[in-house]
Amino acid sequence: MPRKVRKKMKSAAKKPAKKAVKPRAGKPPTKAVKTALPRPTAKPWGEAGRALDGVRILDFTHVQSGPTCTQLLAFMGADVIKVERPGSGDITRGQLRDVKGADSLYFTMLNGSKRSITVDSKHPKGKEILDRLVRECDVLVENFAPGALDRMGLTWPHIHKLNPRMIVASVKGFGPGPYEDCKVYENVAQCAGGSASTTGFRDGPPLVTGAQIGDSGTGLHLALGIVAALYQRNRTGRGQRVLCAMQDGVLNLARVKLRDQQRLAHGPLTEYSQYGEGVPFGKATPRAGNDSGGGQPGWILKCKGWESDPDAYVYFITQAPVWGAICDLIGRPGWKTDPDYATPPARLPRLRGIFDTIEQWTVTKTKFEVMEICNKHDIPVGPILSMQELAEEKSLRATGTVVEVDHPARGPYLTVGNPIKMSDSPPDVRRSPLLGEHTDEILRKVLGLSPSEIAEIKASGAITAPDKPAKAEAA
Ligand code: COA
Repeated sequence: MPRKVRKKMKSAAKKPAKKAVKPRAGKPPTKAVKTALPRPTAKPWGEAGRALDGVRILDFTHVQSGPTCTQLLAFMGADVIKVERPGSGDITRGQLRDVKGADSLYFTMLNGSKRSITVDSKHPKGKEILDRLVRECDVLVENFAPGALDRMGLTWPHIHKLNPRMIVASVKGFGPGPYEDCKVYENVAQCAGGSASTTGFRDGPPLVTGAQIGDSGTGLHLALGIVAALYQRNRTGRGQRVLCAMQDGVLNLARVKLRDQQRLAHGPLTEYSQYGEGVPFGKATPRAGNDSGGGQPGWILKCKGWESDPDAYVYFITQAPVWGAICDLIGRPGWKTDPDYATPPARLPRLRGIFDTIEQWTVTKTKFEVMEICNKHDIPVGPILSMQELAEEKSLRATGTVVEVDHPARGPYLTVGNPIKMSDSPPDVRRSPLLGEHTDEILRKVLGLSPSEIAEIKASGAITAPDKPAKAEAA
């Protein structure tokens, strides 16, 4: 390291840490933004705030993909201000409703730890409020249909002019190309991103998965993009646009299937059971049923009680290093040395028969017994857990992965907390806001408006539904 640099680092280490000053939104930086790290805090772990403290997000998201993203950022400490249409709000508030008059679980489980403000984005006064909020926030997140944000007047040039530091993050169904103007929901993305064509059984139709890889998966991708853009902004001082197309997000998660597509050019996919069954491969990556997708063959096998319990199954992986232990457990010690079974390549054409034999053993045990016995031998297995079992699982409650929160209209409900555990940033998992619950608070505290200014805005109809004055907002 050059002497000059070493000297500079030494003197920087001696200097007391300066209090970080949050640059004012909308104003270009007066001085170069400092990137030097402060000294490590002496505060106890978990008492030094949260990872995203100080980040304020203008949340224009709705349905699932965008809300997943902003909820995660809220769990990490960001102040998320959800902008909703007066009177109705996010459409999911009323979708799949289970408790009369209360926000649905669809909404409450995707919008925890946020604040809600109602603003009519097409009303002149509403536009004024949004412009002011743009100046006070760090990130705008939206997942409207293509062009909707522009039609509200919130074009990138307009936002960038109001607040050059602002990051504008969007989920769209498709990236630039033939489908860029299309509206897209979860299963459309699963189909367009390569998941459906590779999911299901060979002799059946394509299948969508229960995990919401199109919506929630893309929301997660977007959250990573936002955090990276915030990090870059520390150096450059300016915001940028972040775009995650759902098709791209799904394809990223289906990456191993594009891997297999290219392998097909060099011969059959030997780890797919269709190889062992002598079924020729076509031109595209086929559906692989419950094949593992990796180098260690696996399958879903019946366990005790499967006749009446739809989830009495276990995923069983015949990992090569523990093959001997598997043979002993299932009562086939001879397979350890039999040339037809002793090596992974020899087993590949016989996988169907091997799994049928292992199943004769698993079906005599419950899925939890299989788990307990196999794990003692380091054999990787996974019980098929139902949502009921997951909801009741004590260890998930203990880690905060499943959290019970209270709600004024619906009472207690379960939500999935932050799946990302951080040793110095305790998660902030709170209930979702009622529609417009924080409208006054945000106008007062974030925009600094006086009671008379707020009254004037209310009278204009920009923040309340035309036929329902302010009181009805939180209904
Ligand atoms: N005040 C006034 N108007 C508002 C408003 C507010 N606070 N919030 C939204 N709106 C308006 C928008 O301006 C838009 O109007 P416009 O089309 O006249 O410009 C309209 O409400 C809703 O927009 P849109 O996004 O088209 O909703 P939709 O219900 O028709 O479509 C999706 C829903 C999800 C299909 C669509 O938003 C989409 O494709 N999004 C991108 C991909 C995505 O995220 N999909 C997954 C969703 S989980």
